[in-house]
Amino acid sequence: MSLTAPKTHFLDIADLEGDDLRHLLDAAHARKSARAGKPKGALDDDAPLAGYALAMIFEKPSTRTRLSFNMGMRQLGGETVILNHTDMQLGRGESIADTAQVLSRFADIIMLRTGPHNTLTELALDAQIPVINGLTAYSHPCQIVADLMTFEEHKGRFAGQRLAWLGDGNNVAMSFVHAAALLDFELALASPEAFSISAAEIDKARAKGAKITLCDTAQEAADGAASLITDCWVSMSDDPAETQSRVEALAPYQVTQDLMARGDDPIFMHCLPAHRDSEVTAEVIDGPRSVVFDEAENRAHAQKAILLHCLGLDKTA
Ligand code: CP
Ligand code: NVA
Repeated sequence: MSLTAPKTHFLDIADLEGDDLRHLLDAAHARKSARAGKPKGALDDDAPLAGYALAMIFEKPSTRTRLSFNMGMRQLGGETVILNHTDMQLGRGESIADTAQVLSRFADIIMLRTGPHNTLTELALDAQIPVINGLTAYSHPCQIVADLMTFEEHKGRFAGQRLAWLGDGNNVAMSFVHAAALLDFELALASPEAFSISAAEIDKARAKGAKITLCDTAQEAADGAASLITDCWVSMSDDPAETQSRVEALAPYQVTQDLMARGDDPIFMHCLPAHRDSEVTAEVIDGPRSVVFDEAENRAHAQKAILLHCLGLDKTA
């Protein structure tokens, strides 16, 4: 099965074609409704991945990605193997290319969480099976499928809606920029210059049709927004020596009740893990407009759609 499976990687939202993202979202919604009321460990009725194995490599910590791929794969009827970087020969210098070949003999699909994006692309090049990006310093595409799904659950269609990103122009923000080129929402970005997404990336997305508004202040981005979104100020791959300068530069972008009041009945989104009273006040993240735990749950429904897409089995989803 392994060596003949289609090799559709999921490395970035920017690589998706046509209506792929729309189909992923529809499949994720359908998977969620189909298992309403089932116990967490129960199989999905169709169990389409019976006999398939997912290998997950974690070079960085994870709670949600680990849980959602593990439970999602099992609910689809498949098996998972979790490999921690430090326990693998990869940690002692075995090449990514050899690791890719070996994994391709044992698993049907791979998920990698790493720092350097080129570790991911190198693995994808050498693997004979699909590879999924479980987060790199550059992007976090799986998160965005879950986040967009959550947005639709609470706010409906994307058309005419403004999503505001406040704070660090990091990996999660990058995947929102990629998604803006494929769906009909406006993305308002407010980041300090030193920690903003590069002009080249913004230009690329705009050339593909993204409606991106670059804002000078958090207030400007929040005005009329249907969702205020943020993330931690120091990501896993960031240099800890930068922490102080990050905190100082990012403080004006903290999501507060005052900022929420500028939106259009907005929801608050955060991929988690969060730091209360840094990037968001406790009042907002623990308040009635916060949908952060829906985002966390939706990771599993989204992962299933992604797994089926990569294995060419999405038509049955
Ligand atoms: N949001 C997210 O990816 O969480 P983890 O780091 O816990 O996987
Ligand atoms: N930007 C964060 C996301 C964590 C899920 C990080 O990379 O650490």
